[in-house]
Amino acid sequence: MIIIGAGVAGMMAALASAPAPVRLLTAGKIGEGAASQWSQGGIAAAIGADDHVDLHIADTLAAGHGLCDPTVVSRIIKAGPEIIATLEAYGVRFDRTEDGTLARGLEAAHRRPRILHGNGDATGAEIMRALMAAVRATPSIQVIEQAAVRHIFVEEGRAIGVLAATPGGPLSLADDQILLATGGIGGLFAYSTNPESAIGQGLMLAQAAGAKLADLEFIQFHPTALAIGTGALKLISEAVRGEGAVFIDETGTRFMDGADLAPRDVVARAAFDHLQAGHQVFLDTTSIGARFATRFPAIAAICAQAGIDPVRQPIPVRPAAHYHMGGVAVDAQNESSVTGLFAAGEVARTGLHGANRLASNSLLEAAICGRDAGRVMAERAARPARSLPPLPLPAPMIARPALRDLMTRHLGVLRDAHGLAAARAALSRMASDDPAARLCLAIAEAAAARTDSVGAHTRRDDASMRRAA
Ligand code: SIN
Repeated sequence: MIIIGAGVAGMMAALASAPAPVRLLTAGKIGEGAASQWSQGGIAAAIGADDHVDLHIADTLAAGHGLCDPTVVSRIIKAGPEIIATLEAYGVRFDRTEDGTLARGLEAAHRRPRILHGNGDATGAEIMRALMAAVRATPSIQVIEQAAVRHIFVEEGRAIGVLAATPGGPLSLADDQILLATGGIGGLFAYSTNPESAIGQGLMLAQAAGAKLADLEFIQFHPTALAIGTGALKLISEAVRGEGAVFIDETGTRFMDGADLAPRDVVARAAFDHLQAGHQVFLDTTSIGARFATRFPAIAAICAQAGIDPVRQPIPVRPAAHYHMGGVAVDAQNESSVTGLFAAGEVARTGLHGANRLASNSLLEAAICGRDAGRVMAERAARPARSLPPLPLPAPMIARPALRDLMTRHLGVLRDAHGLAAARAALSRMASDDPAARLCLAIAEAAAARTDSVGAHTRRDDASMRRAA
């Protein structure tokens, strides 16, 4: 078994497949470059006495604007309470209240507080800490660091191995069970909350392998990235609004009419529109008061580094590419259209998120689908290893500045036919020798084909949208 990527999905798969032998490949050191590590808000699960999985299912479906797969939503959301127990068994320490129950935060479009968190706002880092320790303590898992996979070998519709670049030279590994757990695409944009290295490598590998990709046009923009600099911006978690923060502009006006915790696509559009209208956008966190530093220690440190005191000063924010709802289309086994090629976590399109992901459903999906993929792969009878054909090592996958510029200008929060046509023409010219351009072209094609606005895909040339405005 080969697992590509050592974020939450990849490590859960490796742990779930034990004692079957696994090679866990990661492009850097284990834990580095995984967006899971950066996740602040938390992981959603209906565990409160005032909550029920049916409510969590309904909130997920509502956020997804009718494009979720209800069967998948039900399967994943129902597994939430159980996966929390599994994570705790691996050593994850979620924050607890004084009476010892799990502390629950609120995020946008959740009707109940159900966001479990660790160390306040360092939930991803806490989960990663525990999973890394568990992985290191599991003898069946061989971690291969600094192995950047550049090619997946496919024979007669089946995945049969990978080719990776390593410091010691090209590494070919034959195997007929391969999991992509490579994360998202935020690094294709000028402003993102993802590690800059997250440029959709898994999607590029899957695309080259002939796997079906789906829902590529649905890219979620987070409304509150810290508006300082470009590239990988620091996130100001939605959980901060869950504790009472509100949007204001430079005049102190609350421009969201009290809907500060509306679904993320709605809020991102409103913040973007306000910026486009020439305003500045801030998060007013002053109502949280001195509690800010203990509830949000990581964000307090981010603010301190930027010279902002969130107890007294508003935080400048802007929308930034945050999460890709689309990805490698997988079935209930988390297997792609290429036999033996699986995908889990952000790189996969399971059908959970539809057109707009409900906050904190992504760590949940990564943990559950990673685990389930690991189990399925371990249960499959291993076929005799194939010999892999010789192949020169393909060039590294990179996102050229011109490509980032095109994506930012034409595939951001607002899109239109004219911009998409320009992006497609430019990307077509770049696509022959650039896998990132091929992926971006597929994203632009999907966005052009969807001529109406739904969820995170907003067409400013959609007549129904113009009427609504
Ligand atoms: C956040 O903390 O605002 C991000 C949570 C998420 O994207 O699920």
